[in-house]
Amino acid sequence: MIIANWKCNGSKSMISEWVSDFSVNYIETNGPFIGIAPPSIYIENVLANIPTKLTGVNIGSQDIDTSSGARTGAVSSEMILDYGCKFSIIGHSERRQFYNERNDDIRRKILNIANKTLTILCVGETEEENKNDLTKDVLKKQLEVIEEIDFNDSLVIAYEPVWAIGTGNTPTPDNINEIHKFIKDVVQSTTRNSEIPLVLYGGSVNEDNAENFFKEEFVDGALIGGASLNGRQFANIINIYNGINSK
Ligand code: 13P
Repeated sequence: MIIANWKCNGSKSMISEWVSDFSVNYIETNGPFIGIAPPSIYIENVLANIPTKLTGVNIGSQDIDTSSGARTGAVSSEMILDYGCKFSIIGHSERRQFYNERNDDIRRKILNIANKTLTILCVGETEEENKNDLTKDVLKKQLEVIEEIDFNDSLVIAYEPVWAIGTGNTPTPDNINEIHKFIKDVVQSTTRNSEIPLVLYGGSVNEDNAENFFKEEFVDGALIGGASLNGRQFANIINIYNGINSK
């Protein structure tokens, strides 16, 4: 699974350029689930621009709010389902940091979409927590939001160390593999159906380093920010993933 998180970037002209760069470079296979999460105001525009031959490309939302109604600026779960979004990214560290989201908000959001569309739950430790060897404790706490929820295979976890996002720094592939295994074990022991979710890695993934991550046993794909804004580079990362997984 390879997901583009465009965050608060993009424009109508960027989207047409992106789609043409992506279409030229993407080698279509029956490969992984591919997703694009544009800013919600551009979802319709991306849907209209993606050539129908790229049937494997799914649109998702970057977030949803905890409920609908009198909540200025918000996008609800009903709205993203109305648009046919195939996934929603929940609990991104930027939401936790800039919008003060806490575990109970994140759990409410997840309950709105669990089983209706894929939930991509982001977890990850800060640099300080990493230095203090608290990574596993922090992840365990963040993963409490899914306790006793039955997902029926609609849960994906993205491990995104906060210190790796947009910095060019990453954990070693070995470290990432170990943490992904840990996440799968925690989820399996806490969800109602003992789910073993796909676990994506996110944080400074690009076409130069992606191969090293994708080769690891417990890395099931990537959630990509900066590098996904370039249609050519995003397509290349998918091609790299397919090259490794078709061997
Ligand atoms: P970058 O790929 O820009 O580091 O962002 C990762 C991310 O936050 C994806 O959700």
